[in-house]
Amino acid sequence: MTVPKFAAMKAAGQKITVVTAYDFAFAQLVDQAGVEAVLVGDSMSMVVQGHENTLPVTLDDMLHHTRAVARGAARALVVADMPFMTYQVSVEEAVRNAGRLLQAGAAAVKVEGGPPILGAVRRMVELGIPVMGHLGLQPQSLHQVGGYRRQAVQREDIEALVEEARAVERAGAFAVVLEAVGGEAARSVTAALSVPTIGIGSGPDCDGQVLVSHDMLGLFDGRIPSFVKQYARLADEVDRAAREYISDVQSGRYPEVPRALESRPR
Ligand code: KIV
Repeated sequence: MTVPKFAAMKAAGQKITVVTAYDFAFAQLVDQAGVEAVLVGDSMSMVVQGHENTLPVTLDDMLHHTRAVARGAARALVVADMPFMTYQVSVEEAVRNAGRLLQAGAAAVKVEGGPPILGAVRRMVELGIPVMGHLGLQPQSLHQVGGYRRQAVQREDIEALVEEARAVERAGAFAVVLEAVGGEAARSVTAALSVPTIGIGSGPDCDGQVLVSHDMLGLFDGRIPSFVKQYARLADEVDRAAREYISDVQSGRYPEVPRALESRPR
């Protein structure tokens, strides 16, 4: 999968699938299943590190996990989230930090926001660093917004979102994530852009969808957003397997005595 194929898939009316992964094994599994892109999301802060929100993730955390994911994803495009405050302070810092993520194995970076970061987006793209935008609910601005709220429901907010998305596209983004926006907003932005929109909690009318793997696989015990479809309940499987293992060891059913030892002459 390559960056130019994103726009080509939109033009051909083919839906794009993206899922998060944070390590080698999961990246390999979802890559082999056929997703177009694997996102090393800063959602790692909650589902891997146990934090309350995405703000504590550092660039070093992201570099470490991006290296592992890049080894596992042979075909899918690896996109790494730029952590909070690694791209907002200056264009120079943004470019340097994005470059480090590409050196770690990402093929593209994802950044949250509109006008305040367009200079950074433009410069990264000019220098050959593909950028995925992220509009609507921006979890890194959680405190400013006052929580995880649905965005762009009123007409004037939808128009503002379309303008922001157009500006992100003009700055060079090859795709735009739309998080938790109303259905009409998702349709309007998707129709206005020639690059694909990738929705999460934004209804069926985006050009593609992204889900957090731990939510989708039922591996995360925390609050699961209502729009998530759980395709498996891996938490139950892990619980069952761990209990069976404990019981086997305690009762002596595991490990079994190897046949070779049993039949050895005394
Ligand atoms: O960090 C993440 O997993 C994300 C997705 C929710 C789009 O940004």
